[in-house]
Amino acid sequence: MAAVSVSAPGKVILHGEHSVVYGRRAVALSLDLRTTLTLTPGGARLVLDLPEVDIQQAWPMGEVEALWERLGQPGEACAAPLTEAQVGQVRDFLGLPEDPPGGPRGLALLSFFQLYLAILPRPVPATLRVTSQLPTGAGLGSSAAYAVCLSAALLRLAGRGAAADSTPSTEVSGGLSLQEVSGWAFRSEQIVHGTPSGIDNSICTYGGAVSFKAGCCSPLGAPPLQVLLVNTRVPRSTKALVAAVAARRRRLPEVVEPVLDALDALAERALQTLADLSSADSPQQQDEAYAALHELVDINHALLASLSVSHASLERLVGVAASYGLHAKLTGAGGGGLGVVVLGRDTAPEAVDKCRSELEAQGYQVWQTILGAPGLTFH
Ligand code: MEV
Repeated sequence: MAAVSVSAPGKVILHGEHSVVYGRRAVALSLDLRTTLTLTPGGARLVLDLPEVDIQQAWPMGEVEALWERLGQPGEACAAPLTEAQVGQVRDFLGLPEDPPGGPRGLALLSFFQLYLAILPRPVPATLRVTSQLPTGAGLGSSAAYAVCLSAALLRLAGRGAAADSTPSTEVSGGLSLQEVSGWAFRSEQIVHGTPSGIDNSICTYGGAVSFKAGCCSPLGAPPLQVLLVNTRVPRSTKALVAAVAARRRRLPEVVEPVLDALDALAERALQTLADLSSADSPQQQDEAYAALHELVDINHALLASLSVSHASLERLVGVAASYGLHAKLTGAGGGGLGVVVLGRDTAPEAVDKCRSELEAQGYQVWQTILGAPGLTFH
């Protein structure tokens, strides 16, 4: 097999973070900040080079084969994901602590090995180099984009797909079923996030815009959305935030369930609004659809704050945006991380520039971008 190079986009959740974990609707769009992975088969070692999280490591094939024997892997391509006990053995092999397994670096190593050992019929030497434009741990789907790239490249190494079949569609990329790639990436996300809903691996695989509910993902024909993406630079853990919402839901189900239902209703309305935006044939209809979208953004942020997943840095961001007549919400798990300011057709460029400058002066990192980038791509 020749070297294979793949990339996957990051993601922004427009509606449905947290509620999607409990089977409610979510809407997400991809982001044109990408993770790229190049896999070169051959050599005498297994090499993983992932500078963003400080990994530059090589394992002699004898050691990898001995691990594979110890795990008793079945010798079939794309066998079942590793069991929890097998993941424990891999953790020991890598010298990682149990929980959490060593921060982003440990999680990236563990994700790699679990996919490598499950997807390939036998260990094969290869060099994998990963680079990413996505900040780690900010809520932009860096772990999901990494897992999507790994799954696609390893499936190709296992002899799946075809280099010649490079015309991507909504179901296939590089001859690989997107559903299968996303399914493997989900396994990796389970290691990183505990109980993920599956939305992150879905949007990073399919790209564009997707609607997601109870494990089912449907690509949407939504129009590209202009946004300011704002990094609070406050680190947080998706796993811990999801666990905190779960604990509140257990303590106060009669209070939390209606909030989750309202978030579901918001996502359903957003689907309708995005469809209205796509079909609008006059500037006035577009402006009405944007006004509806903005109202949903405002309500969404307030509902998420009621689940205590906001943060002082996110509240400040929403306040600064509002002072320029703009609409912002947290995106992803919250607790810091990222916020998104959703712009409209007629948003005044001066308001956007001033908002951006004020946020940057306060220490936020701001990107002005368009959501809806292509998903998994073979280069
Ligand atoms: C994280 O990007 C989104 C959450 O809803 C968790 C998940 O869906 O797995 C907070």
